[in-house]
Amino acid sequence: MSVEIEIRTGVASWPSVKPLFEAVWPREVVEKLSWGHIVFAPADLRVLVEDDERLVCQVGITRREATWDGRKVRIGGIGGVSTHPDFRRRGFASVALNAALQTLKEERATDFALLFCEPHQADFYTSRGWKPFVGEVFAEQAGQRARFDALLPFVSYLKRAPHTGEIDLCGLPW
Ligand SMILES: CC(C)(COP(=O)(O)OP(=O)(O)OC[C@H]1O[C@@H](n2cnc3c(N)ncnc32)[C@H](O)[C@@H]1OP(=O)(O)O)[C@@H](O)C(=O)NCCC(=O)NCCS
Repeated sequence: MSVEIEIRTGVASWPSVKPLFEAVWPREVVEKLSWGHIVFAPADLRVLVEDDERLVCQVGITRREATWDGRKVRIGGIGGVSTHPDFRRRGFASVALNAALQTLKEERATDFALLFCEPHQADFYTSRGWKPFVGEVFAEQAGQRARFDALLPFVSYLKRAPHTGEIDLCGLPW
């Protein structure tokens, strides 16, 4: 078994990621989810995990200049965390999440990482060190700024990690 991790731009990697997303989130399933109608920002970068040259897992990174209680902050948005159903529970998502955080750390420009998930995924992230953000999050949808509460926010410390207050994503969520 040969496992490889690479970081590619979101645009360049999209053709290879699309089939993985279709396997993990089929359109007919997503349409029925509480967040199925939400428009998400595209990833700037992706961590790709290949097992014997097959893409098995990806984690998207969206860099964003946002605000926290009115102060400018640089957020590393983590999104689209997905492992192919045939390759789960082998540590691929954990490895990809670590690589995404390491990438943001090395850039030294990001204050904290932020992701959004469904309640049933919360334990997966808290057991990997992510902390709930219990304040309010605002984001753009249909050109309007609106409260974003369809998914639960979790933060991971880089230079700081706010847990309360108000985060304005100043754009689409991820
Ligand atoms: C969540 C997901 C990315 C995990 O991928 P993975 O490659 O299997 O993750 P890992 O192998 O690194 O970790 C699996 C571990 O997390 C645990 N785990 C997985 N989903 C969990 C959940 N919802 N709640 C708690 N623990 C969970 C497993 O029990 C396993 O634990 P173990 O290490 O003690 O065996 C994968 O199940 C997936 O793609 N799910 C569908 C898409 C999705 O919901 N993504 C999250 C979007 S926020």
